[in-house]
Order: sequence, then structure tokens, then C-alpha cells
Amino acid sequence: MIALVTGANRGIGREVARQLVEAGHTVLVTARSADAAAGVAAELGPDAHPLRLDVTSTDDVVRCAADVADRFGVLDALVNNAAITYDTWQRAADADLDVVRDAAETNLYGPWRLVQALLPLLRASRHGRIVNVSSEAASLAGMGGGTPAYTVSKVGLNALTRMLAAELRPDRILVNAVCPGWVATDMGGPGGRPVTAGAASVVWAVTLPDDGPTGGFFRDGRPLRW
Ligand SMILES: NC(=O)c1ccc[n+]([C@@H]2O[C@H](COP(=O)([O-])OP(=O)(O)OC[C@H]3O[C@@H](n4cnc5c(N)ncnc54)[C@H](OP(=O)(O)O)[C@@H]3O)[C@@H](O)[C@H]2O)c1
Repeated sequence: MIALVTGANRGIGREVARQLVEAGHTVLVTARSADAAAGVAAELGPDAHPLRLDVTSTDDVVRCAADVADRFGVLDALVNNAAITYDTWQRAADADLDVVRDAAETNLYGPWRLVQALLPLLRASRHGRIVNVSSEAASLAGMGGGTPAYTVSKVGLNALTRMLAAELRPDRILVNAVCPGWVATDMGGPGGRPVTAGAASVVWAVTLPDDGPTGGFFRDGRPLRW
């Protein structure tokens, strides 16, 4: 399988890339710093290919799609992992809307523009997978206040997951949202579970069999409430 992981230079994305390479897959290790992408790819070995990709840049996304097309002609899995702004410091009632907009640019429009650009390559695969790394914080069923920029962007990502799953069903592309759980990364802070466990929750959805679920929201392979 050829998989592309966004934000693969640190945290959960880096570990997802590592686990996929370890399982024998080819991984496009993307990061907004070319040096960071190259460093991680060098550590992971010859099946890891570095690519600079800032998900907020249409130019980057277009160049990335052209690069993958030239080198591989196909993409089996897209892992939309990159995200920003776990805004524990603000509330919806008085949130800075510029911060909310910035979060959506990375966390929602980033995955969206990447899907649009890479869709021809995903359609060329017989086993297309799109995994949107979300958060249970975006579950409307149990939603309270707080982290408004982050939460609204992930609610949007969950909605995008449902729509893409329906629209891409005829192409047999499985599209799911995954929560990695609370994970000890720069974003999650100390105290969360190990990054290996968070990444495994994501890898589960990347490596689903062809008759696996689509349009779902999962953590550790178990459904979460929308
Ligand atoms: N950690 C948790 O407890 C937790 C819980 C639920 C969900 N999640 C989700 O899990 C995913 C990974 O989180 P994490 O904890 O690993 O976060 P992290 O340690 O903060 O890493 C975030 C990654 O996203 C990249 N990134 C940010 N903006 C980008 C952009 N415009 N283009 C490309 N890459 C960009 C960062 O790259 P730079 O190094 O260049 O900044 C970094 O590689 C996120 O979607 C997050 O919402 C995490």
C-alpha cells in the first residue's frame, strides 16, 4: 500500500508513518518543513519518502498531487492527521473568530483540499482509504463548552467524512473519522496514553479490509457516537 500522512514529522502522524512502514507499506512522509520530512523519512528507511506539504497551501497540495502522480501513479491511503489550535484558553461565547478561522483552514479545509487534489490517485487504487484524524471532542452527542476553534473544525471534518463516504462509495473508497484518544504529544500534553496506542487507532482505519466500514467514527476500532 502507498499511504500519505500529513503532519508526519512529530506526534501521532510520525508514529502512524512509522507503524505503516514497519508493516511493509510505502509511506509519503509529509511535513510543512522539508528538512523535518527528510529527517523522519531517513529514520524510517527506504520505504519512507519525504515530501514538503503545508495543508493550508493550495500550491503545495497541487505540487504534492503531481509529485505522487509522477512517482507512483496511485495513492491507496490518505491520512489527514495535521491539525492545530487545541484552544483550551477560549470559550465559544467570546472566542477570537480569527483563531477559529485559522483552525478551520488547517483542520477542515486542509483535509478537504487534499482530498480534492488526490482523488484521481485514490480512485486509481483498488483499495482507497481516507482517514480523517478527528477527536471525540467533536461528538455532538456529548458536547459541552470550550475549545471552540478546535471543536468546530473537527465537527466540520466529521461532516466532511460522512459526505465523502457517501459520495465515494461507488468508487469503493472507505472514508472514516478516527479519534486517537488522549495522547501524550505536543498537542495532548503530558498524561495521555502513549503515541503508539493513539497511532494504532488511526492505522486500524488505514488498513481496513475491502469489506470494512465507511462513514464511521471510531477509536481503537470501536464506534463512537457522532
Ligand atoms: N494528542 C491528543 O490527545 C489528540 C486527541 C484527539 C485528537 N488528536 C488529533 O490527532 C492529530 C495529531 O495530533 P498530535 O497530538 O500528534 O499533534 P501535534 O503533536 O501538535 O502535531 C501536529 C502535527 O500537525 C502538523 N501541522 C500543523 N499545521 C500544519 C500544516 N498547515 N500543514 C502540515 N502540517 C501541519 C505539525 O507540523 P509542525 O511541526 O510543522 O507544526 C505536526 O506535525 C490531530 O488531528 C489532532 O487533532 C490528538
